[in-house]
Parts: sequence; structure tokens; C-alpha cells
Amino acid sequence: MMEEALFKKAIPSSADGLGRIDGRAKVTGQAKYTAEYKLDNMVYAVLVGSTIAKGTVATIDTAKAIKAPGVLSVLTYLNAPKVPGHQKAKNPGKPEAKSGPLKVFNDNKIFFNGQPIAMVIADTFERAVYAASLVKATYNKEKHDTTPPKDLSRGAAPWDGKDFVRGTADAWKTAPVNLQEEYIQPTEVHNPMELHAIIARWDAPDKLTVWDKTQGVQATQGDIAKAFKLPVENVQVNSKYVGGAFGSALQVWPHEIAAALGAQVVKRPVKLVLTRMDMFTSVGYRPYTWQRIGIGATKDGKLIGITHEAAGQTSVYEDFAEGPINTSKGLYDCPNVTTRYKLVSLNVNTPTWMRGPGEATGAFALESALDELSYKLKMDPIELRMKNYAKTDPDNKKEYSSKFLDEAYKMGADRIGWDARKQEPASVKENGWLVGYGMGSGMFGAYREKAVVRATMNADGTLLLQTAVSDIGPGTGTAMVLIASKQLDIPTDKIRFENGDSSLPDAPMQGGSATTSTVGSAVHEACSILKEKFQQLMGNGGADKLDYVKILKDKNLPSVQVLTKSQPGPNNEKYSMQSWSVHFVKVLVHPTTGVTKIDKVVCVADSGTIVSPKTARSQIVGGAIGGIGMALMEEGVIDDRFGRYVNNNLADYHVPVNADIPQIEALFVNKPDPYINPMGSKGMGEIALIGMAAAVANAVYNATGKRVRDLPITPDKLI
Ligand code: MOS
Repeated sequence: MMEEALFKKAIPSSADGLGRIDGRAKVTGQAKYTAEYKLDNMVYAVLVGSTIAKGTVATIDTAKAIKAPGVLSVLTYLNAPKVPGHQKAKNPGKPEAKSGPLKVFNDNKIFFNGQPIAMVIADTFERAVYAASLVKATYNKEKHDTTPPKDLSRGAAPWDGKDFVRGTADAWKTAPVNLQEEYIQPTEVHNPMELHAIIARWDAPDKLTVWDKTQGVQATQGDIAKAFKLPVENVQVNSKYVGGAFGSALQVWPHEIAAALGAQVVKRPVKLVLTRMDMFTSVGYRPYTWQRIGIGATKDGKLIGITHEAAGQTSVYEDFAEGPINTSKGLYDCPNVTTRYKLVSLNVNTPTWMRGPGEATGAFALESALDELSYKLKMDPIELRMKNYAKTDPDNKKEYSSKFLDEAYKMGADRIGWDARKQEPASVKENGWLVGYGMGSGMFGAYREKAVVRATMNADGTLLLQTAVSDIGPGTGTAMVLIASKQLDIPTDKIRFENGDSSLPDAPMQGGSATTSTVGSAVHEACSILKEKFQQLMGNGGADKLDYVKILKDKNLPSVQVLTKSQPGPNNEKYSMQSWSVHFVKVLVHPTTGVTKIDKVVCVADSGTIVSPKTARSQIVGGAIGGIGMALMEEGVIDDRFGRYVNNNLADYHVPVNADIPQIEALFVNKPDPYINPMGSKGMGEIALIGMAAAVANAVYNATGKRVRDLPITPDKLI
């Protein structure tokens, strides 16, 4: 099945390459995360959450708390200073506009259970925790709604979305072979290892410095400046190390504003670290989403129509919309596509982007439906996908900048041993376990944005790269060092990457799998310009290898510096740019206990040139693990009687642990995208997860003949 040449191009999982440049700092504890900073005179804040899900605070008694040892202040809506410029709703012009991001301590309204109603500030964390337990509130309780959507009947269209039809609406119904099924993605909480945290210090009445967990120091700087009506340059945001975020730190949340307010009141630096429990209600999450797919094909497997409907939950005060239905518009060459998408407002906190955002939810439904169709057609699932392979973007009719998903299918199928798969479900057993194989594809836009990088070549031959971007864990610094090393032909250990500081040159937030493409381009361009400058200094037309140290010495220069602004060009508009992935999974399911064991995973990414093999592999492995969690374990459960989470801790909210994860193989097509950027590399963070949950569900069906359409696939659903 596999051509030898393809394998030679592939980078095996064991690939050598530069290890993480910050790896040593991280494993030795030298790398300091937000909560680890200790500032002079610093005090500690703890949030008190509402115990009802809807209504108003009737009374709030803080007298005991304020008298408790070490307490400096207890903030509530009654005494907190007003935030002059709270974030606005995204659709302020519309009559039905919601109030927008939660205005913390603004009034006595309660929108969800856990909403902060008070914040205690004390001289130690323990004293703040104790005093917080003394705050007592009474409520005027109203009937809340935390029941997630079950169809399209209750929701409203998101403010920027409407139903979409390509070709004939609901054409799947007319197809000779068709099916319609419903799929549930429950609420999934990012739960990065590092808790969200902030330290806020006012250096002057109009000058604020924060140490904050954020995916974008400058976005946070801008939002905090707006909230407190400060000039942007008066807010300094530091986020040197981030211990995972997966989307949860893409925006400023109420606790960040609360900490800054608290610091204003007590006139001392305030540290606020969310508890694991707070992580379920103080930052966003992947929204519970109901989906229904109708899909139909000719008897030989050519798709006739897909209808993809989705209803996702949002909060009553703010809309959050994402793209679960997008995958159905673009993954396959299908002439008739209908999508409908609604948001249902509930008494919950606002959801947000979570790795592979809506597309991961959508791909679970679509790639499960494709698999279901393949059984109806008695056709191999890969053959069905190849039969409907899109050669140009079916959504916008543009040519792809690059697409080697077909090669990825071949590489992955060969590596997992797809030939061993039996089409007949529940037909293979190994040592008493049912055996099944499944696959699922992923697609996500490959982006490039603007970024500025400052590159300084010093007299000693070391290079300093500086840009504001956060590195939330994928190893951005490592990739940037590799790009610079190649461009300038200098060893990687001579290069330092400085980032995560709002005063550094402009860079967008780390999100949407765009950082290597965006900041990498800026590094690439900065190094090219730097090299030209040295060639000019040397004055021989650049024939020789450049000896940077010698040139600087000869010219008596302490350093040469360039500041380069890089931006996408016309090609980024002209072509449809997508990253592609395919996940292959072999599962074992125990017929008596219903336990699913992931036996083998092979993921193949078509994400252009691989800039940093080691961190790219980690990125794919991490995404696949996230996908396994989504498939088998993760579910934020709310008890509707109280509108409250019942599993808001890591004992009850299950994420995969080492014992759940087999060897995961990451393969890369590793062919450059000729148009996206000078490296030819496309994003990888999202496609690492998108399609994975479907691959697991499809493997479980192949093993057992049981189709689980409501995640997670827990043992009770298989017995
Ligand atoms: Mo990502 S969901 O853009 O952090």
C-alpha cells in the first residue's frame, strides 16, 4: 500500500532534533509561572462564588470576614470601585444584544452558579481562604435553566451566523443510501495543568503591571487598558511561561479584572490564583453541543448531500459562537450542503475556544457519520473518503495552497496496519478483548498574521530574537531558534528567544495554530535582512560563509539590529489554506466490563514543512491525548436541580493519565506549502486533536458493533 518514497519523507516519531530550549528551565523549576512570583508587599485574593444559578443577591454579610485575622478587604458589588470601561458586548447595535462579558462586582445580578459575588484579600493565602468561608449571602432565587440543547427548537442564531445552503437544501434525503443521526459533545473543560493566575500591581494611580497567564500579552494589555481607561502603554503584561492553556487564556476573564480592582483598593500587589474548582466557572470551556447529521450518497459512495445542524450552549449574558458546522462545508467534495447553527442561552458561564474549537466538535459528528455511511455502503472508510476527496475548496472554490491528505491516509493506514481491520464489526478478538480499528480526518484553516521581530546580532556572535508572543507550551521558542539558525547558519545554542512581555515587538496571541506561521515568518524575514546587512558590511557580495563576530570586530560595531514587520501577502488571500490530519486508532474493548483500551495510535499531519521535529511530534501527541480524553473521559456534569457542577475537580472530571495512553506515533507528510509563508509550514495545534474522537468512536464500533454518539464513551455505554 505504501510507497517507499513517502516513508523516506516522513519524520519518524523518534526523530532527533533540537530539544526544547526551555526544557531544562522547566524541569528544574527555574522557569517561573505566574503564581510563583513573589512581589514585595504582596497580598492574596480568594473568590467567593454564588451558590444559586439565577436571581439576585439579597444580602451579603462580610462583617465576620473583614474581622478575620490578616484580612485587608472584602470586595462585593456594594463596595467595589466601578470598572470604568468594562468590555462591551460584541453585537451592541442589535436590540437583543446581551450585556457582554461578565462585569464583576458590578451589581447584584446572578447569571450562573459559581459567579464571583465577593473577593477576600488577606496577608496570606490561607487567611484569605478562611475569611472567604465566613462570607454569607442570601438570595432572591429565580428559576434557572441549565438544561442543554436537544434539538434546534430552543436556540437563536448567533449574531453573525445564518443557515447555509450549497446546492439543494437537505439533499441527503433524496440519496439512495442515507442516514440521519444525532451526536452529543458534552461540556469539556480545558483544565490545563497550570491554574489561571494573575498578580496585579499598581505602580502609579494610572499605571498597572500584571503577571498573568495569557495566550496574548498584548491582547490582555489592550483589554485591561480599556477596562480601566488607561493608555495602553501604561499597562505592562508579563507572561513568560504558560503551563498549557488550549484556548482558556485567549481572553481576559472577570478574575483578572477583579485582581486589578483589588490591588487598587488595598494599594498593594494582589495575587489571585484560581482553584481547580474555579477553573470550571471562572474561565471558559468547550460548550455542550447537540448535533444532527443527515448524509446521503449514491450506491457506489459518491456523496449527494450533507446536512449538519448544531445547537451549542452559551451564557445568558454573552454569546459565544464557534464553527462545528464548518467541517461539513469543506472537508469533502459534496455538491449539496446545508448547515444550521443555534445558540441556547443557559445559566452557565460563557464558553470559549478549546483546542480545535468548533471543528473538533463538528468533526466528531461528521467523521462518525462518514463511518456509519461506510458500513451501510459496505465500503472501506478510507475508500469512501477518497471517493469524495476535495481537490479544490468546495466552500469558496479556491485552489488549495497545498493538500496531501491522500498521502497522509496512505502513510497512516500502512503504519497502523489497516489491512488487518475487518469490515464486519465485533468479529475479531485478541486474548478475550474485542479488537477494532477506526480513523477520522481533521481540517483547520492555516493562518498567517502580522508580527514584528527584533533580531540583534551581538559582538560575541550570539543572536537575540525578541517578540511579544506567548508560548503556552508548544515550544514556540524552539521552533523560532531553529528557523533563525537555518537562516543565519549559526548553531542553535548561540540563539536566545525572548517573548511573553507586552513591551516587546508586536505579535498576535498564540491561538488558532498560527504562531509558527506568523512569528516564524517574522523571524525568517528578520534573519534574512540581518544577513543582508552583514553581507553589505563585508562588501564582497556574500560569496563566503559569514563570520559575524569577525565582521562586527572589523567594523568596530557592538551589534547589528533589525526590527522587521512581517505580514501575509496576496497568496494568503488567493488560495484556500488548510492544515490536514488523519488519526488512526486500534482499540481493545472488554466484552464483559465495557472497558476501552487504546492499543495503538498513528496520527499523520499534512502541515507543510516541519520546522521543529521534536516539538511538532509533541504537539501531535498532545492533541491526540486531548482527543482520547474527549472520546473516552471528559465531561463537565451540571446537576440541573442546582445548576451546579458536580465534578469540578480532577478526581471526578477525568482526563487521560499515562496508563491510558499507548505509544502514539506522529508522522508528517512534511512537504512545503509553497504559498503560505517563507518556511512553507502550516499550523498543527488544532489538527492534532480534530478528528481524533471520531477515530476512537469508529474503532469502538468496529470492535463492538455499538455506535456511541454521545461522548464520552464510558464503559456503561458499551455493556
Ligand atoms: Mo487555541 S483553541 O486557538 O488556543
